[in-house]
Amino acid sequence: MKSILCKNYQIHINNWSAFRKSLEKVRPSSVFILVDENTEKFCLPYLFEHLTERAEVISIPSGEVYKNIETCQFVWSRLVKGGADRQSLVINLGGGVIGDLGGFCAATYMRGIRFIQVPTTLLSQVDASVGGKLGVDFMGYKNMVGLISDPAGVFIFTDFLRTLPADQFRSGYAELLKHGLIADRETWEDLSKKKNFNGLDTEEMIYQSLMIKKTVTEQDPNEKGLRKILNFGHTIGHAVESYWMQSRTPLLHGEAIAIGMVGEAYLSYRVGNISENELFDIRNSILSLYGHHPRFVKPSGKLIEIMKADKKNSNGHIKFALLESVGQACYDVDIRQDAIEESFIFYTQKL
Ligand SMILES: NC(=O)c1ccc[n+]([C@@H]2O[C@H](COP(=O)([O-])OP(=O)(O)OC[C@H]3O[C@@H](n4cnc5c(N)ncnc54)[C@H](O)[C@@H]3O)[C@@H](O)[C@H]2O)c1
Ligand SMILES: [Zn+2]
Repeated sequence: MKSILCKNYQIHINNWSAFRKSLEKVRPSSVFILVDENTEKFCLPYLFEHLTERAEVISIPSGEVYKNIETCQFVWSRLVKGGADRQSLVINLGGGVIGDLGGFCAATYMRGIRFIQVPTTLLSQVDASVGGKLGVDFMGYKNMVGLISDPAGVFIFTDFLRTLPADQFRSGYAELLKHGLIADRETWEDLSKKKNFNGLDTEEMIYQSLMIKKTVTEQDPNEKGLRKILNFGHTIGHAVESYWMQSRTPLLHGEAIAIGMVGEAYLSYRVGNISENELFDIRNSILSLYGHHPRFVKPSGKLIEIMKADKKNSNGHIKFALLESVGQACYDVDIRQDAIEESFIFYTQKL
């Protein structure tokens, strides 16, 4: 059992009694639980064991394609029909899609009602549930419509990870590796040496990772500066993820970020921030966990176009969050196109 005190709320890990106490403190007039088809099956029965309040379940199909405004309309209409008022509570039980969409629906319903996040994927436990970013995709753009608003509490239970498919676990693990690389060398060294995901101390590892994300987001909640370091691996990673999204072989977010981290570690080396040995250590560790998939960076011109169109860039310049050293990061580094192309070559090389 561990807890983390954020500015306006607390994150509890493996603490059902804190979950109970929080509900008693909130004393909602009514409770709504948002789930998707998988969390309804695998996680909801477990949550019900700890819920004495009567609750209305709102279930949506699983998947990023449903993280849109039409699904919000469905959720809002269920809240209206269910008589939700300003004292009602929404519990978001699911991965990042449920947390982002459910949080957005609650934070906008009647100008904002309280919500609790119960993240059930590794990715949402270490990333999506902290920092208050909420929203949905719009017109093909990820997270285009949304806001930043804090939950009443975040309750993480590592037991939920037992039913999580292995590839989803591996995808979330990429964010843990990223947190180590940008802020804590020891965490990176410890996590990157794992040969597989058996026998991990998930509670401790999630706690360490959350502390990193919390420290960064609290210093810069609106992403004016420091928070950008969390984008390490994500400039190349997002381009790879977007390009392959519509294909028959889409990548999970963390798989794309793993590719992005190798490419951006190369750029960190290229600007003189990390040594060749460190670069190869990062590359080899990531490839041993995620495999080597050169074909995903082959449409290099297309990937660069996508990066240029990213809302975080301006005047055709591509800005990166890079490693300052292993365990430290910097942001807003302008990188020329030829160096980015080199980073793709570095990734694709068989060494
Ligand atoms: N708000 C933020 O700061 C932030 C940060 C990172 C990512 N995100 C968002 O998070 C989303 C991705 O999150 P995700 O990877 O959790 O995706 P997800 O919510 O789609 O969950 C992945 C899959 O796992 C299933 N699942 C969830 N919990 C399960 C469990 N315990 N057992 C079995 N199956 C389970 C889901 O039904 C789904 O099919 C993206 O939309 C991304 O934009 C937000
Ligand atoms: Zn990410």
